[in-house]
This record gives sequence, structure tokens and C-alpha cells, in this order.
Amino acid sequence: MNKLFEAINDQINAEMFSAYLYQAMAADMEDKGFTGIAHWFTAQAQEEMVHAMKFYRYIIERGEKVTLKALEAPQATWKDAKAAFEAALEHEKYITARINNLVKLARKADDYATEIMLHWFVTEQVEEEAHANEILAKIKLMGNAPNAMYLLDRELGARPVLFTMPANTAD
Ligand code: FEO
Repeated sequence: MNKLFEAINDQINAEMFSAYLYQAMAADMEDKGFTGIAHWFTAQAQEEMVHAMKFYRYIIERGEKVTLKALEAPQATWKDAKAAFEAALEHEKYITARINNLVKLARKADDYATEIMLHWFVTEQVEEEAHANEILAKIKLMGNAPNAMYLLDRELGARPVLFTMPANTAD
């Protein structure tokens, strides 16, 4: 496997870690009583698994083998919702830098197919950062006030999820 495909394989790990991180944020927000924000982070975690699987499928389609590696344990608690969204935004910036680096590697290798595949992720990262940024801006505007946070929790609880638990296992 060449350097480019090793880096794409590592990106599966980074996306799965993103899912793990956002699920940890969901668990912490649930614990803090923000069920809507927890729901938003669960939906985000699901999207990250889709990102991971896009890279997974791409490696296979190109005739290479996927090798899954160990996942790091994510942080378990954040001071409040604002701190969680700050950490989410920082994490998305880190992922954007990784995607940009993959584009660089694809260009260096004259691998046009990989570069085109990565375009979706370049655009997606603009959205990922924008979403975290928008929510963070709202929290800052509201000064973390409890009644405003209650309304934000309700708003974020309406985010569509990609899949729901089977009826017999849902709570
Ligand atoms: Fe997979 Fe949130 O970027």
C-alpha cells in the first residue's frame, strides 16, 4: 500500500474517532440534562461513521485492503455545552487540516480519482465547521443563560438522525 492509501486508511480511524468523540459528548450532555443537544451529537456521530465508511469503501473499490486500527478513548466530560461545542469546532478544524493534507498527497501522486473523491470531503468540512460555529455563536450570544439553553436544547433535538434504533431496543 502506498503512502497515499496508508493515509486514507488512517483517515478511517480519524473519522471513527470523530464518531466516538461526538458520542462521548452526547453521553455527557445527556448526563447534564440536555437531551436535545445529546440527540444532535448522536446524529453527528452517525454522520462521522458514514464518513468513515466512505473512505472504507473507496479503499476497497481501488483494490486495496482496509486495516482497522485501535481507537483512542475520547474525553468523557466537558464543563458545559459551550465547552463541548468549542471542542467540536476545534476537532473539525483538525479534520479539515487532515483532509487538505490528503488532497496534497493525492496531487503529489497524480492520483486524480482520489483527488475527485476528496472534493466531497473538502466541501463537507466547510459545512462541518459552519454548523459547530453557528451553534457556538448562539450560545455565546445567549451568554449560556439557562432559559435560552432550554430553547436551544429543544431546537437541536429536532435534528434528523440518519438511522433510528430498532423499536424493541429504543428507550
Ligand atoms: Fe467527518 Fe466531522 O468530519
